[in-house]
Amino acid sequence: MQPMVVASTRPEVIKLSPVIRALESYGIEYSFVTTGQHYDWNLFNVFIKELDLKEPDYNIKVGSGTQAYQTSHAMIELENLMLKTRPDVVIVEGDTNSVLSASIAAVKIHIPVAHVEAGLRSFDRTMPEEINRILADHCSEILFAPTEKSGLNLLNEGIPPNKIHIVGNTIVDATLQNLELAKRKKSSQKKSDKEYLVLTLHRAENVDQYRRLKGIIEALEKIELPIIFPVHPRTKKKLKEFKLKLENIRMIEPLGYLNFLLLMNGAKLILTDSGGIQEEAITLHIPCITLRTTTERPETVAAGGNILAGVTPERIIDKINSVLKNKELYSKMKKTKNPFGDGTTGEKIVSILSDIYERGELKVSSQDFTQGFWERKLIAVDSTLAGKKIEELDFAVIKVIEKGKEKFPYPDLELKEGQMIETLH
Ligand code: UD1
Ligand code: UDP
Repeated sequence: MQPMVVASTRPEVIKLSPVIRALESYGIEYSFVTTGQHYDWNLFNVFIKELDLKEPDYNIKVGSGTQAYQTSHAMIELENLMLKTRPDVVIVEGDTNSVLSASIAAVKIHIPVAHVEAGLRSFDRTMPEEINRILADHCSEILFAPTEKSGLNLLNEGIPPNKIHIVGNTIVDATLQNLELAKRKKSSQKKSDKEYLVLTLHRAENVDQYRRLKGIIEALEKIELPIIFPVHPRTKKKLKEFKLKLENIRMIEPLGYLNFLLLMNGAKLILTDSGGIQEEAITLHIPCITLRTTTERPETVAAGGNILAGVTPERIIDKINSVLKNKELYSKMKKTKNPFGDGTTGEKIVSILSDIYERGELKVSSQDFTQGFWERKLIAVDSTLAGKKIEELDFAVIKVIEKGKEKFPYPDLELKEGQMIETLH
């Protein structure tokens, strides 16, 4: 199997690093491509260096631009490259414009796409990332969903269960592997014995509008504890353009992964609008407050480690103070279990891909028989079905409903009387 790994922004490099490590440990040769969406040293190359990855074999150098410019330019160049190198599978992660470009380019020339972190939904269609996720998922043949909830999101959009693999999130692998490395490598660094909060902000909907950004910053300036803020270049540009001055919040340049993990690990609380940082916070057991109105990581909120504060200044201040002042709530948030797996997701992904490849099923194909039409039915599990595993049935099950709650139809799930199943005949 010869995969093409496309990783073009900070979070993609971090989250695909465990997959790359697993590919290397399986002895699988892969090509590494970046569209060049992130090009600054501290948004891209630093991660290649720290995570000990090979330099990209190809850089399309798309750079910054409008949504359509970035997506279409990368698509054209990626298609050329895929036609020339004909990978067996294109591996992408997440929801950036580069992921969308790679996914559309690949499926249209019948190269299967494996989407890592599939099925996340914020249900907010004003976010460019939501559109990218939906389209990338629907272009993919193999969908690696981090949780049962993300798997169910895919089923609800009609993606068949046999394409979906629930494997956890590679961010847990990356966090656990690199925190240890960071502690060893940076052991000489002086640790702060003062309490501090960490802040990151970069979502277009938060930083591109003057009133929204001003409101968030003014609220955070009122927090008593020191706030350390590694500033994303998008946000830096907007703060300058809007002439917003920060006084109490300490702005610093974006950090490399090892330093950032240490910074998060020593924080009292993390304030963020980042996707990956919500996941890292719960993995590190640091309480998190998300400065957004929606999250595509509802598992972190349900588990109790993350609070969705919204974006109005009063609510932000209120939520932060309520966590800082309520010891019981704070310690409950710290103790929550991470819902994204045990840190072996990269290895699981490569093992599943290798098996599919060995079976000769790693392809985009159409049926070579007349399919007719499918009929969906909702059936109550009776004594004739109870005790059977889903994989033993001679029809497809696309959902199991138990006590009104949807469950993912894992192949080895045993049916019980009282359940309902949605089937495809
Ligand atoms: C992108 C992703 C977002 C992801 C984030 C990770 C999309 C739509 N957005 O957002 O989902 O969370 O990456 O950080 O794909 N810039 C630089 N140097 C760089 C890159 C960008 O200065 O190396 C500046 C440019 O002014 C650019 C702006 O940042 O216009 C935004 O960059 P862009 O890649 O378009 O989006 P991000 O905000 O980084
Ligand atoms: N990160 C980092 N240095 C920083 C800020 C973030 O290494 O100064 C890492 C962080 O640990 C996480 C990833 O970047 O793994 C998140 O990227 P970002 O917030 O830009 O994107 P998102 O996850 O929202 O797509």
